Amino acid sequence: MLLAGNWKMHGLRGAVAEIRALGRGLNGAPLPADILVCPPATLINEAVKAAEGTRIVIGGQNCHAEPSGAFTGEISAEMLRDAGANAVILGHSERRQFYGETDAMVRAKAEAASRAGLIALICVGEDERQRDAGEAVSVVQKQLDGSVPASAPADPIDLVIAYEPVWAIGTGRTPNPEQIAEMHAAIRAWLADRFGAAADQMRILYGGSVKPENAGTILAVTNVDGALIGGASLKAGDFLAIIRAVPQR
Ligand code: 13P
Repeated sequence: MLLAGNWKMHGLRGAVAEIRALGRGLNGAPLPADILVCPPATLINEAVKAAEGTRIVIGGQNCHAEPSGAFTGEISAEMLRDAGANAVILGHSERRQFYGETDAMVRAKAEAASRAGLIALICVGEDERQRDAGEAVSVVQKQLDGSVPASAPADPIDLVIAYEPVWAIGTGRTPNPEQIAEMHAAIRAWLADRFGAAADQMRILYGGSVKPENAGTILAVTNVDGALIGGASLKAGDFLAIIRAVPQR
């Protein structure tokens, strides 16, 4: 199980206190999941320091495909790693929608993450029109075809797929457990087709309006190996409540 927080473009330096509070809240108790926090790039260094001595891991929200070069404003996977990050979110729907990221770009970034030794969380998900048209599974399969690197990382747990239906992000709406189960089964089957037995170890996260109130139900769905959490990851109290809601397996 992996619970990952995506802070998006939220948080000035003071927000790192939430990571300290999260660490304190986790102290001592056996964790039901790996915990990842992906703050804005400006906070990664401080977040890594705040997470020292805890089991919280820090990640980025995007990276460039090249290790370095004349790409003003960009950050490479190697730079994230150098700053102490262990993971990176790639191909989030906001990046696909607002910054024109294509499947091919996401794949190149995922290869870069792997080269730099980062866990890659590759995001996929249909929009509302595609869901209503009955195209959700085929849209996601096509995104996987284009976004996932051809070869598995040396350790399969370093490849994570996050299913985030666009219409569920920040809306308070979520698919029902049957819809989540159907999509996660389709993603698992796709991974097995591509990577064989290694697919069983790859984690498939659900994302989109995960809150303390619905986390238990969502995380109990077959083939849901964790969650990618936006708004509810910004406050340690909410994140802790989600962690406490992880069902026993
Ligand atoms: P919310 O949890 O705020 O809906 O955001 C989900 C998301 O986009 C995480 O990447």
